[in-house]
Amino acid sequence: MAKVKSKYVCQNCGYETAGYLGKCPECGAWASFVEEVSGGKLSETAVLLPDTNPPMKLSDIEMNTEIRTTTGISEFDRVLGGGIVKGSLVLIAGDPGIGKSTILLQTSGELCKNGKNVLYISAEESASQIKLRAERLGVKADNLYIYPQTNFELIKKHIEEMHPDLVIVDSIQAIYTSTIQSSAGSVSQIRECCNSLMSLAKTNNISIIVIGHVTKEGNIAGPKVLEHMVDTVIQFEGDKYKTYRILRSIKNRFGNTSEVGIFEMGGKGLREVVNPSELFLKEYNQTQTPGSTIIVTSEGTRPLLVEIQALVGTTPYPAPRRIANGVDTSRVLQILAVLEKRIGLNLSKQDVYVNVIGGIDVSEPAADLGIALAIITCVRDVVFDSHTAIVGEIGLSGEIRAVNHIEKRINEAQKLGFKRIIIPAANDIQDKIDGIEIVCVRRIIEAITRSVKKDNGREDI
Ligand code: TYD
Ligand code: MG
Repeated sequence: MAKVKSKYVCQNCGYETAGYLGKCPECGAWASFVEEVSGGKLSETAVLLPDTNPPMKLSDIEMNTEIRTTTGISEFDRVLGGGIVKGSLVLIAGDPGIGKSTILLQTSGELCKNGKNVLYISAEESASQIKLRAERLGVKADNLYIYPQTNFELIKKHIEEMHPDLVIVDSIQAIYTSTIQSSAGSVSQIRECCNSLMSLAKTNNISIIVIGHVTKEGNIAGPKVLEHMVDTVIQFEGDKYKTYRILRSIKNRFGNTSEVGIFEMGGKGLREVVNPSELFLKEYNQTQTPGSTIIVTSEGTRPLLVEIQALVGTTPYPAPRRIANGVDTSRVLQILAVLEKRIGLNLSKQDVYVNVIGGIDVSEPAADLGIALAIITCVRDVVFDSHTAIVGEIGLSGEIRAVNHIEKRINEAQKLGFKRIIIPAANDIQDKIDGIEIVCVRRIIEAITRSVKKDNGREDI
C-alpha cells in the first residue's frame, strides 16, 4: 500500500511545507496553511461515482438565459451588466466609510418597492443603526428583513427558511462558521463562509451580495481566492473627502468588466450622476491658466471628460521630483522621455506634477497626448484653448497612436459644448460631426503646432 504523505499548502499562494506555519514565508498571509494528504488507498467511492454528466456536443447544449432582476438604480444595473443575475454571488469591495452599506440599503429599498423580498444580514451594525440609516435614506419597505447576526449556520437556516429574492451580507469579514476554530475575518473563515454562501446561492437559486473590506494596501481583505470564487467583483471607489463615488466592475461572469457607475453622496444617500462629464468639469475654469487641458477618457464603454493639470518648476532638490495623481507615474516618465527625445524639451532640472482633477484614476494610454500638452503649455506659459478636447496615445517615436471608442469620445465632447477635438489621424475618421471640428494629428509636434496658441494668436509655442 502506498505511503500516506501529508503536507501543508498555503491557500493564498500555493507554497508547500512539511509542517504547519502561522505565516506564509512566500506571500505573508496569516493562517493560510491547510493540511493535504496524498497517497494511501484510493477511496472506492471515487470509482463508483455515477457518471451523470458525460461530455456532449457544443451544438447539443441548451441555453439557459439568465434571469436578471433590475436593482432600480440604473447606474448599479449598468455595472452589473443589466441587473442582478438570479443565483449569483456578487462581491462589493471598498474602503470603510465609502458607502457600501448605504448603496445596498438603497438597493434593498428599491427592490422591495418592486415586490421583492430582501434579507439584510447586518454583521457589523445593530438593527437600530440600520433603521436610523433607513430613515435618513427614506427607505420604507415591509418586505425588507434586517437580521443582525454573525454566525453562518444561523444565517443559512434563515436564508433557507425565508427563501428571499436577494440576500445582503454586510460584511464577509464579520461572519464566522462554527466548523472552523479561527476567529471571524481570518483567511480560512472568509474562504469557508464565501464558499458556503456560493453553494447556498446556487442550490437555492438566490442572489447574494456580500460586502468586503479593502486593506490598507488597497486589496480586498482575505485571500485572492475570494475574488476567484464569486461571480462578480465590484469595486467601490472615490475620495472619502469628496462627494462622488465610482462603482467599477473588475470581474463579471455575466457582463462587461471595467464598466463604471457614478454616484454623488448627499444628505439622503447616494444619488446617480446621469451626466458624469459635467460633474468632472464643474470646476473647470473657462478663463484658464497655462498647464491645463481636457481629455476624453473612456471608462468601460462610457466616455468621460476630465481635466488634466500639470505644474513644472525649477527643482530645489538634487533629483527632480515627478509626482502624478490619478495617472500612472511610469506613464508620465515615459511621456517626459518622449518629449525630451522627440521635441527637445529638457526637464531634467525641473519638478513635474501631474494631476487628474476630480480624483478619478485615468489608466488608459489615450490620456497621453492630453498630459503632454498640459506639460508643454505649462513650460511655455501659454494657455490651451478651453474649447478643445484631446485624445491620443503617444508612441515612443513621438507618433500619435489610435484609440478605441473614438466616435463615442467625439460625441461626448460635442455634447458638452467643445468646439474642437484633437484625435489621432490613425483612427481614420471620415465622417464629419456637426458642431465640432475634428483635428487629426500624426505626430506630437503636429499636435502642438495645431493646438497651442500664444496670447498673440501665433500658432506656435
Ligand atoms: P456607509 O454606507 O456606512 O459606508 P461603508 O458601509 O462603506 O463603511 O457610509 C458611511 C459614510 O457615508 C459616512 O461617512 C456618512 C456618509 N453618508 C452620507 O454622507 N449621507 C448619507 O445619507 C449616508 C447614509 C451616509
Ligand atoms: Mg458598512
